[in-house]
Amino acid sequence: MKILIKNGLVIDPANNIHEKKNLFIKDGTIAEDGSFSEGEADRIIDAEGLLVMPGFVDLHVHFRDPGFEYKETVETGSAAAACGGVTSVCAMPNTKPVTDSAETVRYVIEKGKKCGLTNVLPVAAVTVGQEGRELTDFGALKEAGAIAVSEDGKSVMDIVTYREAMKLAAENDMLIMAHCEERELVNGGVINSGEKQKELGLAGIGSSVEDVITARDIFLAGETGARLHLCHCSTKASVELVRMAKKLGYNVTAEVCPHHFTLSDEDIPCDDAMYKMNPPLRGREDVKTLIEGLGDGTMEVISTDHAPHSAEEKQKGFSKSPFGIVGLETSFALAYTRLVETGVLTLDGLVEKMSVNPSRIIGIDKGNLAEGKPADICIADINEEYVINPDEFKSKGKNTPFGGMRVKGRIKYTLLNGQVVFENGTLKSEKEQRKMQ
Ligand code: DOR
Ligand code: ZN
Ligand code: ZN
Repeated sequence: MKILIKNGLVIDPANNIHEKKNLFIKDGTIAEDGSFSEGEADRIIDAEGLLVMPGFVDLHVHFRDPGFEYKETVETGSAAAACGGVTSVCAMPNTKPVTDSAETVRYVIEKGKKCGLTNVLPVAAVTVGQEGRELTDFGALKEAGAIAVSEDGKSVMDIVTYREAMKLAAENDMLIMAHCEERELVNGGVINSGEKQKELGLAGIGSSVEDVITARDIFLAGETGARLHLCHCSTKASVELVRMAKKLGYNVTAEVCPHHFTLSDEDIPCDDAMYKMNPPLRGREDVKTLIEGLGDGTMEVISTDHAPHSAEEKQKGFSKSPFGIVGLETSFALAYTRLVETGVLTLDGLVEKMSVNPSRIIGIDKGNLAEGKPADICIADINEEYVINPDEFKSKGKNTPFGGMRVKGRIKYTLLNGQVVFENGTLKSEKEQRKMQ
């Protein structure tokens, strides 16, 4: 199978490429420039006026499978990824059962392969059942295909247990992805502490909830030599702590989610759980510092923390709804609109944060359009303006605060291993189904 992507603006920062050119794909991989003629191509994609980028790599999604299939499945989550130009995802382990065994790791991988819409890379739990006591078998989990370990959804609160986890991660050369939240300090909080919280009469989550554990984890990583990746950083101090960690030479990287750099708690209109996630939307100063951290390279990754929940669950207001919003189908548009249009990041910078850096951090051979690399590609129109409509999401979760927001940047095509899995609003699987009818 030969595909020619014609006349697109290719943004491939891993190879210092930012130019209008043709891209040749043969048997699933990037082929040499000019390796076949137009006439020889099985398919020509006209990318005139469009961006051609390495597919995005989202280090943080919840696919809810196994166990919470009413919220999302590997199929629907993969579909959402393909729509968002995301060709690899790290699936967090807070499933039922928890992804703490080789068996569950293999289940997620197999299901992901069967769907064939995005590379699904399972993240295994740090402790058995995510109960915070007994460490899982990192070696066996890695062997089964776990890409990293994380206790996401919470922190391992016992510091000695977590230090052991870091040692074990370092020994097994496994990345540890940290959700930083001091459980005792949360104390029933559901929204950022501050004016908005008082106005709505809800229990607050102070910044220290995140900051004290972020600091703890950085020092543990420094001492044990573990590779630490900080999930969904939301506070000013988190950015400063990452800066410090890098200065000290520790192996620490960090991600910011689109909701945390797009909205502050001041944007919460009322007691609407579409704005409820963990960590919460923070203050304006925090948002400003997160954006600065993205701009100056301190924060290397944009990931979504795609956290689908049912409509029923999210109807119950801040106090009673679960934390989390979906993100896979809006991440590129939000990042482009909020960071590139405003001059915080260049297009190359955006591709670095959404594809190149995350690939490097988890050690996969993606985020790169050099000859011989797997043809995981996304093609976008940055001139297309539209209003986000959650009813159009392929994810089961429609829980987003971004419905009705006007953004710029639409994903037009997504290719996975040289196969078009999404084009102009339609998934490969939908197209095949239509053909069969
Ligand atoms: O908002 C969140 N949702 N934060 C988390 O840490 C967990 C996630 C979920 O699993 O729903
Ligand atoms: Zn988390
Ligand atoms: Zn998460």
